[in-house]
Order: sequence, then C-alpha cells, then structure tokens
Amino acid sequence: MQASESYKVPSPVQAFQLEWMKERNLSITIKRDDLIHNVVSGNKWRKLKFNLLQVKHLGKTGVLTFGGAYSNHLLATAHVCHSHGLQSMAIVRGDELNEKSNDILRQCAEWGMKFRFVSREEYHLKDDFEYKNELKDEFRSHYIIPEGGKSYLGIIGCQEIVSELEGDFDEIWVAQGTCTTSIGLALSCNENQTIQAVPVLKRFDVSKEINDIMKFAGFDSESVDQVLSRMNVHSDYHFGGYGKKTEELSNFILKMKEEHHLDLDPIYAGKAFFALLNYYKNSNIENRKIVFLHTGGLIAGSYLK
Ligand SMILES: Cc1ncc(COP(=O)(O)O)c(C=O)c1O
Repeated sequence: MQASESYKVPSPVQAFQLEWMKERNLSITIKRDDLIHNVVSGNKWRKLKFNLLQVKHLGKTGVLTFGGAYSNHLLATAHVCHSHGLQSMAIVRGDELNEKSNDILRQCAEWGMKFRFVSREEYHLKDDFEYKNELKDEFRSHYIIPEGGKSYLGIIGCQEIVSELEGDFDEIWVAQGTCTTSIGLALSCNENQTIQAVPVLKRFDVSKEINDIMKFAGFDSESVDQVLSRMNVHSDYHFGGYGKKTEELSNFILKMKEEHHLDLDPIYAGKAFFALLNYYKNSNIENRKIVFLHTGGLIAGSYLK
C-alpha cells in the first residue's frame, strides 16, 4: 500500500495577508492539506496512511471503522479502500438510518462500503475493549480503525505535516475534533512553537481527551505533558457546537471565498480560521509567523444547512 501519486503530498502552502496584519508584521501561511485529494483530503490522508500500511503488513483484506451519518472519515475510508482493492465496513451511529439516508452514505455504498447501523447506546461502545474484540472475531479479515482515525498510527501520520513545513514558524492553528491531528502536530514541533487548537465541540475537555487518547495509544506521561504544554486552546469558537453554525460564521466563510478565493467548511476549518483572525484582530500582538492548517472537510461541510 503506497502513498500513491494521486495524493498530493507534500501539500502546497499559500500565503495569506490582510492590511492590518502587515502593519503588525503578522504573516499567515496556509498549509493546504485540503488539496491532498478531492475526497481523502485534509487530515484524512494523514490519519489513514499508516493505518493502511498496517492493513497490508497484517495481511488483512478489509477495514472496519466507525462514524456518524455525515462523516468525512467514512467517506475517505470508503474511497481509499475502494481504490486499494480493500473491503470496507462501517459501524454507523443511528439505527434509524440506512445506506440511502444521505449522499455521503450513498457515495460510501457506491464505493463498496458495507454498513451496520447501530443505536446510540451501542455506538458508545466503539472504544470498548470487549466490544472491539467481538467485532474482531466477527470480521477476522478486517483491520479496525477507530472513529475519525483516532489512533497511534493516525497521530504518527499527522506528525508528517510539521516535517513538510519549510522555514521557521511560531504556531500552528488547527480545528480540533478527536484531537488526533493537534496531538501529532504538538509532538513534532519544538518547545518554542505552540499549537493553537480550536475545538469544534461545545464543552469539550481537551486535556482529558488528550490524556485518554495518548494513554490509549501507548504514549508515556512525558509525551502527554509535552503535548499539553504546547497546546493553547481557544474554546469559544464552536458556534453552538458540533455541526452548528451562525450567520456570522456563514458570512465569514462567504467573504473568504469571494475576496480571497479560500474555500472553508463550516464544521472545522471555517471555525478555526475565524478564530485565528478574530484572536489577532482583537489583540496587540506583533511579529508572529503563523501557520494555519487547512484540514479539508469540504464535502461533508457542504451538506450542513
Ligand atoms: C475536516 C476535518 N478537520 C478537522 C478535524 C479535526 O481533526 P481531529 O479529529 O484529528 O482533531 C476533522 C475530524 O477528524 C475533520 O474531518
């Protein structure tokens, strides 16, 4: 399983400037991971890459994973499995759904993904040891990737983002869902650099999530402390919570598209980029080299009404 040529890595970068930023010597470089692939875009390829290599190393013929009805991760997994000749199976939250419930699930099915639609209660067991063992027994030829690619190998894949960045920078801004991407970034930057994380979920306990994921993935407490010390969290930019948006956010996204030809989704990257500009606009901070990681998400984001 190779990182096929159709994935545009290293992803390109793009400079972004506004008049008030120039005056304060603030520069933004956008790391365009959204351009890696039209479906397997943003952090999706980063989180899947090493998991797919593991599928091959273990001689498995399929992938089993988890997601919600509008999951970018399910779409990316279905596409990548289809193009690599692997079977794909998804445990989907919501037993009222079926594979025709929306365009994402329909598209996944077209790429050969099989589904099991489960109740919220059952879905809640997705990281439970016993539950996963039962699935392993049932789907012996499948390799299990946790929801959203949240795993040790997902974190390692996200570390590659920093190694692709040329030149010095002070901080990386990124949207936060499972925390996998921001953990990978924090592990690979240096002690003078920070990760400016923007959770898209309301009342999200970032420290607890990071602790849980990193311990589960086998990292020691020194690594956890390192990540937490480099992570600066901006928790006021969820715009109502996961999958929610406001008129202010929609107008901002429209403005970025019309005036800067920058496409942002309303679920992840739109919220994080809004946070970045808002934070600096309302501060006196000067002289910063800022990286914004565009994590993609434009397909699922386009379904948010
Ligand atoms: C488009 C997009 N951006 C950002 C994120 C957040 O990344 P993470 O879950 O690794 O924190 C996700 C969720 O995986 C996503 O789909």
